Amino acid sequence: MEAWIPLGYLLSAALFIFGLKKLGHPRTAPRGNQYGAMGMLVAVITTVVDMQLASGGMHWELIVAGLVVGSIIGLIMAFKVEMTGMPELVALFNGFGGAASALVALSETWKYIEDPDLPLPTGLELEVVVIAAGLSALVGWMTLTGSLLAMFKLKGGVEIFGKWFGTPTWGPSWLNPIKVLLAISVLALIVMSINDPTNTDYLWAIIGISCVLGIVLVLPIGGADMPVVVSLLNSLSGIAAAFTGFIISNPVLIVAGSLVGASGLILTFIMCKAMNRTLPDVLFKSFGGTTKETVTRTKVGSDPDEVAMMVDGAQKVIIVPGYGMAVSQCQHQVKEFGDLLKEKYDTDVKYAIHPVAGRMPGHMNVLLAEANVPYEQLIEMDEINPEFPECDVAVIIGANDTCNPAARTGEGPLAGMPIIDADQARTVVIVKRSLSVGYAGVDNDLFYMDKTMMLFGDGKAMMTGLNNAIKEN
Ligand code: TAP
Repeated sequence: MEAWIPLGYLLSAALFIFGLKKLGHPRTAPRGNQYGAMGMLVAVITTVVDMQLASGGMHWELIVAGLVVGSIIGLIMAFKVEMTGMPELVALFNGFGGAASALVALSETWKYIEDPDLPLPTGLELEVVVIAAGLSALVGWMTLTGSLLAMFKLKGGVEIFGKWFGTPTWGPSWLNPIKVLLAISVLALIVMSINDPTNTDYLWAIIGISCVLGIVLVLPIGGADMPVVVSLLNSLSGIAAAFTGFIISNPVLIVAGSLVGASGLILTFIMCKAMNRTLPDVLFKSFGGTTKETVTRTKVGSDPDEVAMMVDGAQKVIIVPGYGMAVSQCQHQVKEFGDLLKEKYDTDVKYAIHPVAGRMPGHMNVLLAEANVPYEQLIEMDEINPEFPECDVAVIIGANDTCNPAARTGEGPLAGMPIIDADQARTVVIVKRSLSVGYAGVDNDLFYMDKTMMLFGDGKAMMTGLNNAIKEN
């Protein structure tokens, strides 16, 4: 039976890797997700059997109880969470993942410190275990506090006793040396603990400082940089798991943790590139997301009939979805709009996808895939941008920052972020409820251009109205 254990771990690691590969394309992503879940199931079963064999009898009741409670909580959260609440949920899971890894590392290390006669995992010295536990504590606790703060920021503040704790974003420049000092002091404590591995004071100090570090690291980050920090925290939760896997000699935890760490880091750099920011800029030169610009200008709105008449003669229409489409859940009406144009006027219809549109990576792809928009019509920003000068109508549905020309100037929270060049289309239609700003809090000149028609209202109501008007036209 023991010979099957490494095979079980190998199988689950292989499933994780195949799953990741399949996640690379929207068409194969659901299968990738299933592979990942299967890999996790195989890993859990293998670990339970491994523990049973090692201890010669164990408490199944506890494991089954843990599985049942965990599955019920997971199921409830999965059913309850709104699509728009996904990033907060991801941030929360990252935090819990980091804390779980750090707690396991702490309890294992504690065992060896308490009972010096306890045999250590093969090939490990107590000093090595203490180093790994220190690193796991640094990354894990920092991930927990940082992720909780990120979650509150994404929610737009914390509702405790009414709304007295708003979105906390604060980052004077003197905070940067403090971040570096805190990181150095944790590393110094880890080094000091090597000489005195049974002294638990070091571990407590590492845990305390790491919690503070997570908060000061995320506190100044706001605006468009939030997705980058959530992805970085995701990567850190994987690294914490890998350190813990090392302590408990669990190969699959090392492999899975490293995969999460590496893929999270790759995603972090992809997003940095998409926003024309570097990771040190995000972490140390953060733009506040708190000061929202006050909108003072006005613009007269259009109505669905007027827009329906205008799209009548269009040969090429590019749809630009954004966060508002997710809020109003109008992806089916958007798809119907595209289909109607194709059927009635043989219009060339495409969808322009900005890498950080919405509130999570791939947000627009997921919603449009749910509405059965063919993948071939979803075109990435770099590929679609050259087509805008030839586009008759750009229809923007609930997008704002991702097509705000202010990003082309050198200042403000959006500075340098590549945008969808919707302003270069011959005519622009924007569906949103008001002239208010987007996530980064920057007013958008695109709304006030002569060629722009504003359709003020909820995305679903407006798209339904527009579709009806086209049908009657
Ligand atoms: P945003 O700039 O956030 O703007 C969304 C717009 O949707 C708002 O201006 C809002 O205007 C409108 N809206 C809200 N509810 C609506 C409804 N029911 N019907 C119609 N419109 C509605 O959107 P974006 O262009 O997608 O940009 C995303 C922003 O989020 C970027 O700054 C990005 O950096 C940030 N962010 C992204 C992620 C990821 S990974 N995607 C994660 C966190 C943050 P009204 O209030 O006037 O309706």
